[in-house]
Amino acid sequence: MKSLIRPASPPDAADVCAVHCSDISHWRAWDASGDARPARYADLTPCQRWLNGGPWLDPGLCRRHLQRVAEGGGYAWVAEHKGRALAEAEAFLADEPPPYGRNLNLSALYVHRHFRGQGLGSALLAAALAFAQEQGCHTFTVSRPDAPAFYAAHGLRPGPRWGHWQLPARRSRVRYTVDPLPDTGYSLVRGYALLVGRFQNSCHDWERARPGGAPDFPEWRGVTLDRNWMTVRGQRAAVVLEESPRAPGTAEAFVFAPPDVALTGQWVSAIGDHAAWSGFTRVNLFVPAPFAHPHARRLEATQRVMWKVVRGQESVVSSQ
Ligand SMILES: CC(C)(COP(=O)(O)OP(=O)(O)OC[C@H]1O[C@@H](n2cnc3c(N)ncnc32)[C@H](O)[C@@H]1OP(=O)(O)O)[C@@H](O)C(=O)NCCC(=O)NCCS
Repeated sequence: MKSLIRPASPPDAADVCAVHCSDISHWRAWDASGDARPARYADLTPCQRWLNGGPWLDPGLCRRHLQRVAEGGGYAWVAEHKGRALAEAEAFLADEPPPYGRNLNLSALYVHRHFRGQGLGSALLAAALAFAQEQGCHTFTVSRPDAPAFYAAHGLRPGPRWGHWQLPARRSRVRYTVDPLPDTGYSLVRGYALLVGRFQNSCHDWERARPGGAPDFPEWRGVTLDRNWMTVRGQRAAVVLEESPRAPGTAEAFVFAPPDVALTGQWVSAIGDHAAWSGFTRVNLFVPAPFAHPHARRLEATQRVMWKVVRGQESVVSSQ
């Protein structure tokens, strides 16, 4: 199918919302205890729509989301046919140490269910890959690929493995200091590694974990976002603990650190201690495999990033 690939903007929200909604066959509503029951789309609040699969599933949330992507170092494109957007892709550009280097991470790619298999997904992926090249990226990644065979057909290969672990938040004897982290843009941690919480890439996860990154649902008021510089043994990193609205008391951790800082057992213990101090009971760590810590339990199976080296691996190393 012939299509025009162009940047997406907030007025595309209704079409983009329709694309993503087409992927949901059964809508659900969750009660206060977290149990789900079948529901009709029209009866769901924006928060409940979001819980079915993200900000794209409600036109108002989708509009705000497209606005925030553009403001926070992200890019969105649509494939338009006869004046209607039938597919959408999003990506964020980050600068990280090797092995990612300058990285474009594709965080969303959806084609309207009725228009799949007609080349729209391939056209958007090709446009994102061309953009990565234009931007001088070393790597192009899809961090959590739902359609690995589709990406493999476009030259992406299995890359680094990551695992999700959970620690009890508990006091430890590791010494560390804590200072508040300013709410500034990605430039504060550009060039840093995302040692914990690399769900997408450092730019995307940084913007996501800033105040205002999550929608202001009445249901989510009071959720804790704890952002600090932490210093352990003279090494400083930006540490964000974000309470999960669906699991009160549990923090998802994000650690942005200069290239010479490694995630040692002392760092893990310090994060667990600080989490306890901040009122959390558990901390989730999404970290490169292999990972081991005496108090950590695995939450889900190891995942594999898919990637393509856009500019040679040598330049990834020599650029640092
Ligand atoms: C995956 C997706 C983006 C592909 O877009 P599309 O427009 O349907 O794909 P294209 O028409 O460009 O390409 C079709 C080719 O991709 C393959 N393909 C499509 N979806 C696939 C999938 N889920 N897994 C494996 N291969 C897939 C087709 O078999 C076809 O291969 P062929 O040309 O050898 O016959 C689209 O199907 C989609 O939106 N899926 C649901 C959301 C999703 O999984 N997105 C990926 C999130 S990481």
